[in-house]
Amino acid sequence: MDKKARILQLKEEKNAVILAHYYVPDEVQEIADYIGDSFYLSKIATDIDAKMIVFCGVSFMGESAKILNPDKIVIMPDESADCAMAHMAEVEKIKNVRQQYEDVAVVCYINSTAELKVHSDVCVTSANAVAIVKALPNKNIYFIPDMNLAHYVASKVPEKHFIFNDGFCPIHHALTKQEVIEAKNEHPNAQFLVHPECQEDILSLADYIGSTSGIIDYATSSLAKEFIIGTERGVLYELRKKNPDKSFYLVSEKMICHDMKKVTLDKVIAGLENMNHQVEVTDEIRNGANHSLNRMLELGKR
Ligand code: 13P
Ligand code: SF4
Repeated sequence: MDKKARILQLKEEKNAVILAHYYVPDEVQEIADYIGDSFYLSKIATDIDAKMIVFCGVSFMGESAKILNPDKIVIMPDESADCAMAHMAEVEKIKNVRQQYEDVAVVCYINSTAELKVHSDVCVTSANAVAIVKALPNKNIYFIPDMNLAHYVASKVPEKHFIFNDGFCPIHHALTKQEVIEAKNEHPNAQFLVHPECQEDILSLADYIGSTSGIIDYATSSLAKEFIIGTERGVLYELRKKNPDKSFYLVSEKMICHDMKKVTLDKVIAGLENMNHQVEVTDEIRNGANHSLNRMLELGKR
């Protein structure tokens, strides 16, 4: 039996569904029941009517799914797949900022540990951060962990005062202006679509800035035929599937999240067979973090 057939068989046997982020390897995206950006995946996790969720992504995604679905079994095919940025903020600093500012909201990018979510007021993703920050009643915004997304949101919500943190995504942050200019010179007719985890000078060169789903939707509905993609290479799979008549060029061959690439078909099969690498969250963490995630889902509906 081939791997895909085995996964189908195991899914039925175990009453499981497979969720995958756009950055995991193509063959894993191909067998997923639901594929999307981090906002879509956290929303869909709450609507799923199965006993088990196999989350093909990195730790913070599985953790969020478990917090939102405490009665379901959530399995990570590779337990070590983690997002470096998720750890780049400190609870101590959050407490200090809260003491320093009276009217402050701690806004936590979903790419963060559950512990950071416990100490935050609301979560956001790159798809809804601007709208949610605008909707908050608070004047001061402490945005963790990503400084680049924070600066992008601040530019769209100038009426609020931002306190910045110093976290970043090692992949998106490393993209240089020179690399973008070289890609643009090579493909002069292409539009440049970029994720807001990139630095400000990169965003200033973009035709479109948005989440992974935003980039895919923009390219799909655009009349343009060529696009330079400024995010992780995994999105090319969905972009090319949806747009066989258009050309997509990765801005730099460096745009690879090696943690997302740890998820393989063999590990999905092993996870379903052995039900190991189950995500566990303590009641204390769950109760604390649930509030920030649910507030995002509520505000995200508006
Ligand atoms: P999205 O929210 O756009 O899916 O991005 C998640 C991510 O990890 C970006 O690096
Ligand atoms: Fe985290 Fe960056 Fe990987 Fe996204 S691409 S999961 S932000 S390390």
